[in-house]
Amino acid sequence: AEEKAAVIILFGGSGDLARRKLYPAMFGLYQRGFLQDRFAVIGTARRPWSDDYYRDIVTNAVKDQPGATPETAEAFATHFYYQSHDVTDAAHYITLKELAAKLDAQYHVGGNRLYYMAMAPNFFSTIAEHLKSESLLTATGFNRLVIEKPFGHDYQSAKALNESITATFAEKQIYRIDHYLGKEMTQAIMGLRFANPLVAAAWNKEHIQNIQITLAEAVGVEERAGYYENSGAMRDMVQNHVMQLLAYLTMARPQSLTPEAVHAVKGAVFDHLHSYSQKEALANFVRAQYAPAVIDKLTVAGYRDEAGVSQSSLTETFVAGKLMVDTPEFAGVPIYIRTGKRLTRKSTQISVVFKPVAHDLFGTQAKANVLTIYVEPSEGFSLTLNGKVLGQSTELMPEELRFRHDERAAKAAPEAYERLIQDALQGNQTNFTRWTELSQTWQFVDTIIAAWQTTTAMPTYPAGTMGPKEATELLARDGNQWVWQP
Ligand code: BG6
Repeated sequence: AEEKAAVIILFGGSGDLARRKLYPAMFGLYQRGFLQDRFAVIGTARRPWSDDYYRDIVTNAVKDQPGATPETAEAFATHFYYQSHDVTDAAHYITLKELAAKLDAQYHVGGNRLYYMAMAPNFFSTIAEHLKSESLLTATGFNRLVIEKPFGHDYQSAKALNESITATFAEKQIYRIDHYLGKEMTQAIMGLRFANPLVAAAWNKEHIQNIQITLAEAVGVEERAGYYENSGAMRDMVQNHVMQLLAYLTMARPQSLTPEAVHAVKGAVFDHLHSYSQKEALANFVRAQYAPAVIDKLTVAGYRDEAGVSQSSLTETFVAGKLMVDTPEFAGVPIYIRTGKRLTRKSTQISVVFKPVAHDLFGTQAKANVLTIYVEPSEGFSLTLNGKVLGQSTELMPEELRFRHDERAAKAAPEAYERLIQDALQGNQTNFTRWTELSQTWQFVDTIIAAWQTTTAMPTYPAGTMGPKEATELLARDGNQWVWQP
């Protein structure tokens, strides 16, 4: 692999995300040779750590990665430096700038900088402003901002955040992370849709009955009530991950795979998101909270009983909804989405349900063809077709063609964050989000949330199930049902 040279300044170096995802991802790049000798990482956070202490943290975060040896983990960690940093103190940025310049010379980096914001989002704007006022951006090499979610809390705050980062960085320099865009099977959607004439020919309202997107999690709110109480499933999962998948599923074929071409067709989807009045929002979206249940003989707490959650909380842990994209190809096709915590099990999957044949040559027994894309934990796809019952009969029988990536091979492939950091180092923005996309998805989501704020109705579902009955009724109303019913 071609080595990339950069000084990476990581805001949030002591955080959970850095430890669980970013250090292992950078280590993966190191093992594959994308990062070799000419890189350094400056981790910053409030606490006063020494470089040695920080390197131990990094070593521990990567030592159990596939292919790691104690020697490679330690050699990797020598590239890491720690800087205790108060994000509101201008003087600290000068220290940071000097350290970056020193490491740049020491590692022969040539001025390339990645500024990576992976800390509490309320500081994103402050950091961006100081990077400008204290002139941290270099005159040679690239300067790129990588920014984690949440990108705002609603449209207004997202807009304000965007204005503050674009005062320092041009859109071409901004890499807004949605880690779902780094996943193998998200990246496989384009090939599946546009490289297979069979699929491409049927991918429109003439043939598609409905599309279903499920992002189910088995875990509850975990230790994150502080964040989640102010977020909820709509902001946490729908505004970003679900919307991005929706765009990949309904966008037109791009002219090429350049970031510009892909973003152009994605943008057109968000331009045509069918908008709802308040009344329609309430009719087409369901929210709910998990209630206590006994799972495998263990009592699982309900959401309102979780530590840090208010007894009268109106934060949704589940959302189901029906969206539509008013493009000539998709107008009128229901796109059902659902996501939630404490559902039956962890799985992200997408089902495309095709219309059944119109004639009754075989009686009424022909089933709809369903193409399912398994995003995680298993990765692959399946297609159900109508076969025939064995023997001298014309009776039909649905058969499933299945493809799953080999689990070991899939595990060895680069993880989402590794792909995205590599893209950022290479200057490829395809798998990052544009402001216009976020602006439109926030406005859509804001309408639904505003409609919910007119009511205190909050259906519940027992922990470990697939959501409230309202989520089943949402589809039943249209004569449809969820394909995946674990
Ligand atoms: C994050 C959410 O964006 O995505 C979390 O904040 C959620 O609440 C996570 O658990 C799910 O990601 P993945 O990759 O495990 O499906």
